[in-house]
Amino acid sequence: MTVRPLVAGNWKMNGTKESYEEFAKIAAGYDAALAEKIDMLVCPPAVLLAQFAEVENLPVGAQNCHAAASGAHTGDISAEMVANVGGKYVIVGHSERREGYGETDADVAAKAEAAWRAGLVAIVCIGESLEQREAGETIAVVTEQITKSLPDASTSANTVVAYEPIWAIGTGKTPTADDVAEVHAALRKSLVERFGEDGEKIRLLYGGSVKPTNASELLALPNVNGALVGGASLKATDFLGIAEAYKNF
Ligand code: PGA
Repeated sequence: MTVRPLVAGNWKMNGTKESYEEFAKIAAGYDAALAEKIDMLVCPPAVLLAQFAEVENLPVGAQNCHAAASGAHTGDISAEMVANVGGKYVIVGHSERREGYGETDADVAAKAEAAWRAGLVAIVCIGESLEQREAGETIAVVTEQITKSLPDASTSANTVVAYEPIWAIGTGKTPTADDVAEVHAALRKSLVERFGEDGEKIRLLYGGSVKPTNASELLALPNVNGALVGGASLKATDFLGIAEAYKNF
């Protein structure tokens, strides 16, 4: 089954309104040849969403949202607000949210439902810690996370899953190609068991120290339908270098 890949950038807490210039370079590089093969996306800090959303050929998304549509939640933003300023996607359950703010699988599932309510695609992140990897628990951990973090109404149109081993995020370390393939095969199996044929089409991204130098190897693996890129998405040349791996496939 061919699944259209997605190369998504997560800028985390980096960028100012002047970063529009870098964003515009990414948009310019996302040319017809690339757009024919893949979807691209940038998730800048929420304060930049409205400004970046004005560029039509490159979708933008948020890095988090609250489960509620509005109300007394100081400092939070809702999925409806993201959609209102032109966002199309929202990342939910990134390990930096799970670890730093105690977000549980149930919280993540509620946020995914909030994303759909607002018409956004949810990018649901999962991944094991180094301790869990070393204890041989990776497959069990990510299988439980994908099961509990994805609501029953998940479809290939409203949901993307990103597998991001916590120990590979921002460290320059990546699992071996065999390890990534093993995890993605297990995730695919779980998706198909639960969602049937549509489970074959739910995009499974790999994230964690993806760079132009390792993109070709990682993105060519079976059941890897794109990447979620942190650090290397901040520079147009690096981010486009990763996306351009698809020009050779
Ligand atoms: P990284 O981050 O590419 O900087 O490792 C990935 C992520 O956290 O999404």
